[in-house]
Amino acid sequence: MARVHSLKYILSFTCSIALNLFLVSMFIRNRCQQNWTQEAMAEAEAVSSISCSGHGKAFLDGLLLHGKPVCECNMCYGGSDCSQLQPDCMVDADSGDPTFLEPFWVKNAASSAIVIAGWHRMSYEYSDGSLISEELKAHIRNVHASVGNAITDGKYIIFGAGATHLLNAAVHALSSKASSSPTKVVASTPYYPVYKEQTEFFNSEDYKFNGDTSMWNNDTSNSTFIELVTSPNNPDGHMKKAVLQGQFVKRIHDLAYYWPHFTPIVAPADEDLMIFTLSKLTGHAGSRFGWAIINDEAVYKRMLTYMDLSTYGVSRETQLRVMKLLKVVLSGNGREMYEFGHNTMKNRWSKLSKVLSQSKRFSTQKLKPQHCSFSQQIRTPSSAFAWLKCETSILEDRSCYEVLKEVNITGREGSLFGADNRYVRLSLVRSEDDFDLLLRQINKLVSVEINDKHVATTSTILRQSNETTLLLTAGVNVVNRTLDLRMELETLNSNIFPRQNGLYTTIDLSFN
Ligand SMILES: *[C@@H]1O[C@H](CO)[C@@H](O)[C@H](O)[C@H]1NC(C)=O
Ligand SMILES: *[C@@H]1O[C@H](CO)[C@@H](O)[C@H](O)[C@H]1NC(C)=O
Ligand SMILES: *[C@@H]1O[C@H](CO)[C@@H](O)[C@H](O)[C@H]1NC(C)=O
Ligand SMILES: *[C@@H]1O[C@H](CO)[C@@H](O)[C@H](O)[C@H]1NC(C)=O
Ligand SMILES: *[C@@H]1O[C@H](CO)[C@@H](O)[C@H](O)[C@H]1NC(C)=O
Repeated sequence: MARVHSLKYILSFTCSIALNLFLVSMFIRNRCQQNWTQEAMAEAEAVSSISCSGHGKAFLDGLLLHGKPVCECNMCYGGSDCSQLQPDCMVDADSGDPTFLEPFWVKNAASSAIVIAGWHRMSYEYSDGSLISEELKAHIRNVHASVGNAITDGKYIIFGAGATHLLNAAVHALSSKASSSPTKVVASTPYYPVYKEQTEFFNSEDYKFNGDTSMWNNDTSNSTFIELVTSPNNPDGHMKKAVLQGQFVKRIHDLAYYWPHFTPIVAPADEDLMIFTLSKLTGHAGSRFGWAIINDEAVYKRMLTYMDLSTYGVSRETQLRVMKLLKVVLSGNGREMYEFGHNTMKNRWSKLSKVLSQSKRFSTQKLKPQHCSFSQQIRTPSSAFAWLKCETSILEDRSCYEVLKEVNITGREGSLFGADNRYVRLSLVRSEDDFDLLLRQINKLVSVEINDKHVATTSTILRQSNETTLLLTAGVNVVNRTLDLRMELETLNSNIFPRQNGLYTTIDLSFN
């Protein structure tokens, strides 16, 4: 009896130890599983805590110094913590890098973060065999529905590596193989330079770039056309409409900028082929993500083939990230990002317009206010770009681009857009630092003009003087900078100002 008893005891003891071991091992396993994100989290937090004085950022994949990622400074800022502003640097207003939205994403860092496991979607395809996340597609439809800028019901959606990728896919899909001559790809000037550059680069037998739409307005040859319609237009922000009509005309509507940041939403676009890009919606240009909304199944299939053969779809990591970003865009009342974007652009335009209103030499596009169905307000467009025009009086033999280059502003030349050299495109979508520097230089440019008026009034006095020392009386209100006045003196007629040696060095500009 005692033996049986002790056997029972041993058995239950063993069982209990086994059970405990099992539970402990389960616990350890669970802990490990729960905590696989911890290291990634610590790394991400560490890099985001590196201070770059508000004029730069450190990134997880940036260069390392003493094992720590270094600060990558905004334009014209330097030093290990980006605290030093370089006094005379070139201000880049060329690229349309949409970093103006960065502060929004810094504020929403927690809700927009993702962790990507080492095993995340290693396959070529999603489990349904496609290259496109159905869930992301649904989010894109929701974003359009919430803004009311495009109709997606009953339409096909395809993803690409940014609008750049989709544009060529669309041109390929719409160009006619049946026709004897290549399909003519056209756009109304001023047009986005990539249309021309890309079409020429691919050098296809099926399509050729044929310049400005208006040259083909009355064409009766029955040639096939692909008209690229950009609204709001890059560079000038106008809401362009298709120009060519007829059964041989196909259209690609580039609606990259049709978001509340840049323009009032007048009505949902309902075109046969519409292209959008994440970069101008959320500012994530580097994610290389865009989408096309397509009516016609045959066109959709030809675009799918293009994507299959060029890249085999968009990176699954990108699709995961885009979905997270769109969740933030749609969260709350679904307006926060657009309000931030619109306010930022509106402020920039009001500052720029204020400075330029003092000038008779430089002007930008004028756009009419319209009712915005999204905000339920009358809004003036706040375009991504200023399409700056230099009056011919200032140009002499230079282009507007060169005039700006002289005050250390790099814009994008009008000629690239099929326009003339009186125009330059200035990007207003970059970081706040970049915009401030641009505005500072434009201020200089305009203050030269204001000085010029004062200098002109003193010219009679100066003409009578044969001395190399010019004495500007205190009554002349010369604004701020030595340099500005010198530049002006250089450009003035040499009859009025004989270029004597020492002329520029003896001007005393110690007044303020
Ligand atoms: C096309 O026709 C219209 C009206 O007939 C005319 O005003 C216009 O100048 C023509 N355009 C071209 C490019 O020939
Ligand atoms: C253009 O097409 C129409 C209708 O298909 C036809 O009547 C006309 O003759 C064609 N014109 C030319 C120049 O081929
Ligand atoms: C432009 O840059 C040069 C060289 O960096 C500098 O000497 C000049 O003062 C700058 N001009 C203006 C208008 O900022
Ligand atoms: C001149 O300088 C003052 C102070 O530095 C500044 O407030 C003002 O806006 C400047 N004026 C112009 C036209 O640049
Ligand atoms: C300036 O020089 C011219 C000749 O070079 C002379 O006739 C004139 O009197 C001079 N004017 C003054 C104010 O000295």
